[in-house]
Amino acid sequence: MKHPIICILALLALLMAACDSGDIEEQAVTTTDKGRVVKLTATVSGIGAWDKKYSVSLAGFTTGDNYAQVVRALPNTTTDGTAVEVVLSNIGDDINTVELAITNRLRERIITLASVNMDDAGDTKDTIRMELGTVDVSTFGALQFGLFDRACIQCHGGNGGAGAAGLNLTAGHAYASLVDVPSTRKEGAVRVVSGNAQESLLHQIMAEGGENLLHVNHTEILSNQFKENLNEVRQLIDDWIGTLQN
Ligand code: HEC
Repeated sequence: MKHPIICILALLALLMAACDSGDIEEQAVTTTDKGRVVKLTATVSGIGAWDKKYSVSLAGFTTGDNYAQVVRALPNTTTDGTAVEVVLSNIGDDINTVELAITNRLRERIITLASVNMDDAGDTKDTIRMELGTVDVSTFGALQFGLFDRACIQCHGGNGGAGAAGLNLTAGHAYASLVDVPSTRKEGAVRVVSGNAQESLLHQIMAEGGENLLHVNHTEILSNQFKENLNEVRQLIDDWIGTLQN
């Protein structure tokens, strides 16, 4: 009579043990599978000027979602001209891009300064390097990399000429071409009025309702480029104009 019971108990114990170790093994496998790693190296400036509600971050995003799945902030005490190295690990298959981005406390993307396509990287076990050289991560730097370089300089700048409407938005020229410079297209308007976003033509042509102010619909250009963070980019433009002394 004893034997069958012991046998069943032994069998149960064996089964449970098998299940247990199976679980552990599975967890271990999942962890290594998620192990893609991106390492950012850059010499940054302008990080200390950001309001505390924003971070300059290395962040992983899923396409269509403006909130980062994984994020690691660059130390905001970094002195200008210092080389920083930031590693983002545990990057799962659901992450499509890893970006140097300005994010807020909710991990929301404000604007992207540089990006790596993780789909191209596949499931490599090698560390993916993002070497950016010298990067101005101030508000204006973020607008240069994230907005002008991406959505504007194909018309405004490059090719030796100053670009459409005599406005040059390439790096090193954009600021002087915008701030307190009268419009060449709209009588009495100023491209950027220091300290006053509402009065600035740049704000007006990017805002809703600004579609027909010029012969080119800039609102459309902006909304085509920034599908997930349109309002955040608009707000960043206004924030920047607000910081300028009039
Ligand atoms: C497809 C080409 C094109 C792109 C892309 C483009 N622009 Fe323009 N932009 C123009 C043209 C052309 C004008 C002049 C329109 C007119 O004559 O009414 C202009 C005018 C302007 C003006 C007014 C200049 C003045 O002196 O009145 C500003 C400011 C401006 N663009 C900013 C931008 C910004 C910022 C971006 C990027 C988000 C951008 N543009 C993208 C073609 C473009």
